[in-house]
Amino acid sequence: MRKIPVIIDTDPGIDDAVAIISLAGNDKVDIKAITTTHGNVGLEGTTRNALCLRELLDIDCIVSKGAAKPMIVSLKEASSVHGENGMAGYEMENPTKRVSDKAAWDVMYEIAKEENGELTLVVLGPMTNVALTILKYPDFFKYVKRIYMMGGSRDFGNHSQNAEFNIWGDPHACQVVLTSGIPITMADMGFGQEMSLTGAEIKEIYGSAKKLKPLTQAFLKHDIEWHERMCERIGQEIDFDSSDIIIYDATASVALLLDGESLVTEDCTVVCETQGSETEGQTVFDMKGHLKMKPNVQLAITMDREKYKRLLKSAFEHFE
Ligand code: BDR
Ligand code: CA
Repeated sequence: MRKIPVIIDTDPGIDDAVAIISLAGNDKVDIKAITTTHGNVGLEGTTRNALCLRELLDIDCIVSKGAAKPMIVSLKEASSVHGENGMAGYEMENPTKRVSDKAAWDVMYEIAKEENGELTLVVLGPMTNVALTILKYPDFFKYVKRIYMMGGSRDFGNHSQNAEFNIWGDPHACQVVLTSGIPITMADMGFGQEMSLTGAEIKEIYGSAKKLKPLTQAFLKHDIEWHERMCERIGQEIDFDSSDIIIYDATASVALLLDGESLVTEDCTVVCETQGSETEGQTVFDMKGHLKMKPNVQLAITMDREKYKRLLKSAFEHFE
């Protein structure tokens, strides 16, 4: 069977790294390119991390640099969540292979045309690169089979009251993508929460990749310290092993793998708020057709938890 051709657009990022592993360690996927964006840390950092991950995971693909800043809003970052270098402070060896000379938008378009409508995009950071490709190449939308994206929230945000980080990072780009006509499956924060794993399960998954041990140990240490700080803040002691841990970006990559099998979605119209003084980057979900617009998103609701866990584990086992 033909493998699924995929481009991963990403801002690695701890959960980005896990999502990349979930696809790199899956035999059904052919990663054609990793394109990088500003996001969790600046573009230089996310690109270095992507180059290092390509070598560590032995992925035979292009790494191409994208946008250093959002289309209109000011640049944001999340190093307080992912560590100064985006990789929980773990310093990977300098990469030996270079970044592509071509920009992310040109790489996306060229590969999409080559794949002739079969290309899937897995988008794990602010959507600037995808939006710029759509704007530069008006026929791009015809060549993309589907976007699986981590972003948005049907409830509260994580980086502002209403906005999830990836969308807040470039709301205008999100709106360009939402209105592009490309089929979209959205793994929002609500889906992430539905698919949370326990600390013990995370340990088991990370522990199955001997080759990645220094990296996963840094991730785990970072998770445990984060968890301790949260416990301190709420004044409660909760055992890490039984607490809920969410690997947001991996819910989008595994949604692709489980689509047609156990992924449950609901059609809806999603609009991104680009102008609200307090609600910039909020994703507005119209589940009941109030906006009288054609649904533009399949919102991920749930997928088989055991299969999710098993797919992650077997991808990590690939790096034994
Ligand atoms: C998203 O924001 C980033 O910090 C993560 O990598 C993920 O893509 C979750 O809001
Ligand atoms: Ca990300």
